[in-house]
Parts: sequence; C-alpha cells; structure tokens
Amino acid sequence: MIKFHLAEDTIDTEDIARLIQWLQTNPRLTKGKVTVDFQDKWSQWIGRSYSVNCNSGSSANLLMYYALLLSGKLKNKKVIVPSVGWVTSIAPAIQFGFEPVMCEADSDTFGLDLDHLESLVKEHKPSTVLMVQVLGVPHKMDAMLELKNKYGFFLLEDACAAIGASYKGKKVGSFGDMASFSFYFGHQMSTIEGGMVSTDDATFKNLLLMIRSHGWSKDLDERDHQSLIEQHHIDDFHTPFVFYEPGFNLRSTDLNAFIGIGQLEKLDWMTFRRQENHSYYMQQLGDIFSVQRCESECQVASISFGLLAEDEAQRKRIVAALVQNGIETRIFSAGNLGLHPFWANRYGTTRFPMADRIHQCGLFLPNNPSLNEDSLAFISQTVLKAL
Ligand SMILES: Cc1ncc(COP(=O)(O)O)c(C=O)c1O
Repeated sequence: MIKFHLAEDTIDTEDIARLIQWLQTNPRLTKGKVTVDFQDKWSQWIGRSYSVNCNSGSSANLLMYYALLLSGKLKNKKVIVPSVGWVTSIAPAIQFGFEPVMCEADSDTFGLDLDHLESLVKEHKPSTVLMVQVLGVPHKMDAMLELKNKYGFFLLEDACAAIGASYKGKKVGSFGDMASFSFYFGHQMSTIEGGMVSTDDATFKNLLLMIRSHGWSKDLDERDHQSLIEQHHIDDFHTPFVFYEPGFNLRSTDLNAFIGIGQLEKLDWMTFRRQENHSYYMQQLGDIFSVQRCESECQVASISFGLLAEDEAQRKRIVAALVQNGIETRIFSAGNLGLHPFWANRYGTTRFPMADRIHQCGLFLPNNPSLNEDSLAFISQTVLKAL
C-alpha cells in the first residue's frame, strides 16, 4: 500500500466548499470574467504584462510555438529543444514543421547545457530556443540571457513544473519571450487541468488570445478588436464570427479559473513548504547523490525531489526499498527524450552523457506541502539504508 504519494491534490476541502458555494450562485461557467480576473492576478503574481489562460501546460506550449510562428518574426524554423523536459515541450515543434535540434542537459540544473547550446546555435543559427526550468530548479539565467542577446534567438520558457521558483529574486517564467505554466494535479498549484502563457509582448498576447479561441478577435482589447474590424472592412453582423487566424479551441473555463484564483492565494505558502522539504532532502541526501543544483540567490520550488543513483543497479535497489516501504517513486521526469520513440523514429536515437545518466539513474522522491519532517526523515532513511 502506498503511504507516501509523489503528488497530493492541492485542491483541499476548503477549496471545494468555496467552489460549491460559488456554484450555488448559478454563475456563468464557460470562459468569462473570472478567467480574465485569473489572468490579471496571474500576471501580477508572475510579474509580466499579459497572461492567457488555457486548458493545460501542453496547450500553453502549443500556443507559444504557434503564436511565434504566426508572428512572422522568425527568420527560420530551426529550434533547439531540451533532452530533459516533457514530450509536449517538443511535440508542437514537430506538429508545426519546425526543425528541432536536441541539446544535452546541464549537469547542475539539468536544464540546457549552455556550452552545447552555444555550439548548436553557432552551427544551426536557430531562430528559437525552447528551454525547460526543470522541476522547479531555476536554470542559469544570466548566462542563458547572455546567449540570447549575443545570438538573437527567441526564448520560449517552459516553466510548467517550476511555478514559484525564482532566480536572483526574479520569478521563473518571467525570462522568456513567452513562458508556459501547468496547473495539473500534483504541480505547485492545480486547477484540475489548466495552463497559462505569460508575455510582455502585445503582438504575442493578441495572437495567443485569437488562436486559443478559433482565431476570432472577440477576446482582444476593444481597441485591437476594432482595429482588425476596420482593417478588414467587417460589418457588424459578421464581426463576432470572423476568423483572423487558423485557431484551436484550447480554452479552459471560469470554473477552473475560480479554483485557480483560490490556489493563487495560498501558492506562496505551498511553495514555501516545498522549499523547506527540498532543503531537508538536500541536507540528508545532497552530499551522497548527484542532485539538481542552482546558483546562489536562487529559490527552488520542486514538485518532486530528483536524485541520480550511482548506476542502474543501485537505482533498482533504491526503488525496491521505496516500493517495499510504501513510498511512491518513478523515473526522473521523462529521462532523455531523445530515447523515446516519438523522437527516435523521426530523428534517430539521440544520446548524451548527462541526459542518458538522468535516464538510467534518475528517480523521484515525494515532495508536496502535506509532508512533515517525520515523513521526510523516513523517506530519506529508506533511501540511505538501500545503499
Ligand atoms: C516541463 C513540462 N512541460 C509541460 C508539461 C505539460 O503540462 P500538462 O500536464 O499541464 O499538459 C509538463 C507536465 O508535467 C512538464 O513537466
């Protein structure tokens, strides 16, 4: 029986009670005012000008790639993608006909290896780099932004599993030209399913809003909406149903947004709890195992504590001990994405020393706000005893 789950729901009984009370007022449930309120509150919290809510982190990534493509700003369709991240950090590049090139993982943060990135950028001259803020451990953003400025690529920042982490006082997800977030179960906060894209660029914001909802302009600011109507000489009767871009329907709902606003109110507390848990694991296990490390003056907000065993055999022993003691575990994120069929079938198996090590030796330990020090001690001891 599992005693310690990797993830626990951050939507608790109080959140459910609040939701029921609100539902009894018979509110509009599809995307409306509450979603706009959630977007505004999110922008304020993350420190960006605009945010667009959608139905998952994967949809947020899809929106970022497509808005970038539709913007007409790309000089080519080459994109550098990470070997360690999630399938949907890369899938839209394949779906939209980009030419993805995979990058090795950094041995400290497990984000993009910046030496490898620079050599790939020199060789391929990509217009775009997609980086992942791996598991709430902030990447080396000073060096990353230096490369961005030097080579002039667009940076898409996948912060889907890194909400609440910060780099030298600035929140993760506020560095890229656009950044994505996930509100799936077990993440730093949850709206059941859900996602967000944040940006400071009004052109991207308008494209994101249009392609989120079929390609129409109804969700734009009145001034931008009117300007499109005039530009295309649209009469009043047609106005609501004119499609300016070939869009999707990736909207979420006001119900999810209502939950999101409640989650945002306790996000700082939940993040603090995860940081405390992470520090505890670091004290117990950080000197014994290879673990993610960030630069000083950075704040981690991990949703699982990742560690690398010495080799596959040692990982097997640790996993067996965890399972035997009712502690849920799994591989580290998705391991090396270059070894997965979705990638290997198209571009060939792609191996790198660090990404492969994460694939073969990585595992997760639970980190959620409900864990107390006794639980963390028991989990850490179980790992240590298995050595
Ligand atoms: C780095 C990263 N990007 C994207 C996603 C996708 O988010 P979602 O599950 O909300 O689609 C995940 C999910 O865990 C993730 O870890």
